[in-house]
Amino acid sequence: MKYGHFDDDAREYVISRPDTPLPWINYLGCEDYFGLISNTAGGYSFYKDARLRRLTRYRYNNAPNDMGGRYIYLRDNGNGQFWSPSWMPVRSVLDNYTCRHGMGYTVIRSEYNNIEAETVYFVPVSENLEIWELTLTNNRPTAVGLSVFSAVEFCLWDAWDDSTNFQRNFSTGQVEVVNEVIYHKTEYRERRNHFAYFACSEKLAGFDTQREAFLGDYRGWESPEVVEAGESSDSIAYGWQPIGSHHIKIQLKAGESKNIIFLLGYHENLPDAKFDPPGSQIINKKTVKPIIAKYLQQKNVETAFRALRNYWTDKLGKLQVKTPDEHTNRMVNIWNAYQCMITFNMSRSASYFESGIGRGMGFRDSNQDLLGFVHMIPERARERILDLAATQLKNGGAFHQYQPLTKRGNNDIGSGFNDDPAWLVLAVAAYLKETGDWAILDIPVQYENELGSETPLYEHLQRSLQYTLERLGPNELPLIGRADWNDCLNLNCFSDEPGQSFQTTTNKDGKVAESVFIAGLFVLVAKEMVEIAGHRNDGMEKAKMKQAVEKMEETIWKSGWDGQWFRRAYDDFGHVLGSKKNKEGRIFIEPQGICVWAGLGVADGRAKKALDSVAKYLATPHGIILQYPAFSRYYLHLGEISTYPPGYKENAGIFCHTNPWIMIAETKIGRGDRAFDYYTRINPSKREEISELHKCEPYVYSQMIAGKDAPTHGEAKNSWLSGTAAMNYVAITQAILGIQPQYDGLEINPVVPLGWQGYEVVRQFRGVRYEISVSRKGVGNNVSLVVEGKPIPGKVIALPSKDVKILKVSVSIG
Ligand code: BGC
Ligand code: NOJ
Repeated sequence: MKYGHFDDDAREYVISRPDTPLPWINYLGCEDYFGLISNTAGGYSFYKDARLRRLTRYRYNNAPNDMGGRYIYLRDNGNGQFWSPSWMPVRSVLDNYTCRHGMGYTVIRSEYNNIEAETVYFVPVSENLEIWELTLTNNRPTAVGLSVFSAVEFCLWDAWDDSTNFQRNFSTGQVEVVNEVIYHKTEYRERRNHFAYFACSEKLAGFDTQREAFLGDYRGWESPEVVEAGESSDSIAYGWQPIGSHHIKIQLKAGESKNIIFLLGYHENLPDAKFDPPGSQIINKKTVKPIIAKYLQQKNVETAFRALRNYWTDKLGKLQVKTPDEHTNRMVNIWNAYQCMITFNMSRSASYFESGIGRGMGFRDSNQDLLGFVHMIPERARERILDLAATQLKNGGAFHQYQPLTKRGNNDIGSGFNDDPAWLVLAVAAYLKETGDWAILDIPVQYENELGSETPLYEHLQRSLQYTLERLGPNELPLIGRADWNDCLNLNCFSDEPGQSFQTTTNKDGKVAESVFIAGLFVLVAKEMVEIAGHRNDGMEKAKMKQAVEKMEETIWKSGWDGQWFRRAYDDFGHVLGSKKNKEGRIFIEPQGICVWAGLGVADGRAKKALDSVAKYLATPHGIILQYPAFSRYYLHLGEISTYPPGYKENAGIFCHTNPWIMIAETKIGRGDRAFDYYTRINPSKREEISELHKCEPYVYSQMIAGKDAPTHGEAKNSWLSGTAAMNYVAITQAILGIQPQYDGLEINPVVPLGWQGYEVVRQFRGVRYEISVSRKGVGNNVSLVVEGKPIPGKVIALPSKDVKILKVSVSIG
């Protein structure tokens, strides 16, 4: 069952009823000011950091679901009826409703008793404010008198403190109201020089800033007393819960429309110009007033909206495809690319499954995310790489997480996730291939943000690889440390107390448990290092890495191969995991994907064996599960993986991030049909038709889909912020469609379904627009290229001379 449809021309998903199985959200903002917005106007806003600079409140895990948002109430002053044009929070039955989620904006339109309301929500590029542009239309044959009430609940900045420290917070709230603008200035009197404002384009009939005065005691957002009565109380908040609510009264003739603009924004003053007059406690509004005045004008709002559309046309325009499959087209051209940009902005901080007060930026996560956005914003990818590398430890290891505001590693979680540093090499390789910016490798970068510790970035990569080589276990496989990619495989942490961290309570000395996954990852990234070193004429490093790759491959075949598939790990007792010897956890997805991606067994048929085992034991119609059989109980020596009930999350859930590794692996052995089939199984657009089961948004990937052991097999969770976005983007665009940036040019190496006669791609790459047309001439994957009418050998199109801006490429496969 569907709850809407895709409008690909508009780059929108159109939701046609408000009661979707879960709130289906979108993101506003692309630089510093961000908001989450659901299809019923739920969500919240923040400046840069979802915990420390939260503008508005949101109640996670609330009943009813999705409480707190950007609310507008309409009241028919003739009969006193009131409703929410976004359905929530009043939930009156609307005569019609649509929510259009687009790139950085959301439009909610509805009609109730012939009063039409459309609200466009967006954040202008480069501004720290959001616009709600409301258009009301009277479709009745007679005039109507309406009251419009806006409502937001301010958060007292630090969202964690805001939801815990009530003895203080109930006394600190402060506001100012000047004409049509409500200023929220809690803590402005002391160490903050920022405030929020909520402005309206119309003359006010009244306002409220104290929550209970607006709602009435013991009442909820669904029936505010003020809205019911049709009169604001002009309340001023002193402590308690500051809110912002405007009241506007309007008359609309039959057929008449009216446009009302609300602005919610964040503003900073210079520390010595906070107050006006100086010495007073009144906010200095000199620098904010022009911004407010600008965006309260409809023509400026329209210009800003067009600029936002152009911003996304530019970003998405870096890669556009036209294939025989509409699900591929809309994910690659629109939604998957968009999701990659959202993970760039949010990392794992703020979604409807991540509270915004939790973890910082993951080292592993951020490096992988980069693979999905590097072509859209290479300059910011560069900055991200340098930030990440600067948190690296001198021994080549990495802080598992760092804080985006301070850019420092988090001591509480620390390091010792032994796969972490390898991902930096993969990210830098992707950046170099995309940009050719070799100079980045010579930039001096600190370790642990310590002044004086700088070495060229290149050495950071060397140390990353050395880190693995210096930590080998009894089988000469890499030691796993606290965990590898699978955060829940905790082989050095025997956690037997509730609440004890699985990952940081390391109580084994870590000298035994080994990871085949890290071994495969090492081979993959060390091969990149061979090329990078070669480029720099560093013969020593190149030779060293070549040798290390050979040695690691030997070790994998010796201790990591199980006969039909790759093993997963060795535990603290030296027992194998992911082997036919195991009763539970006999086969895991991760090493099959990563080892074959790294090239292991491709030439001798063992890769095919491993992938056939994946098909046999792990693949389901809803995607490929993480391991088989699921763990039926808690195993102290395996850790968090066995805490989840079978079929969920890391315990045999379909952990979508790992599925594209198998797609990539399938392309390595030339099986385009298989690769594409796996791609399709978890493609959210394809799953749209089973939305009642899938539950999460059909336009973005979720972290996981319940596996075959779960009673709710096929149900998705944790949408939006997941490495799944970047990895699927890489799998479809680079491995399957075969458009692969390389160090010295653009490689075209498609491994697509047999049934595809052809497809087209436009790719912007190093300043050149490649117009690529692929057609099938036979049943194989052999590639011949014709560039601007001239056949060229091989699969890589060398970089053209500087004056070339467009290249036409015909590709035959067969
Ligand atoms: C989750 C993992 C996550 C880890 C670290 C676990 O509870 O299952 O997916 O990576 O926490 O935050
Ligand atoms: C989510 C984490 O963000 C990611 O880093 C990890 O690889 C997966 N969970 C698997 O545990």
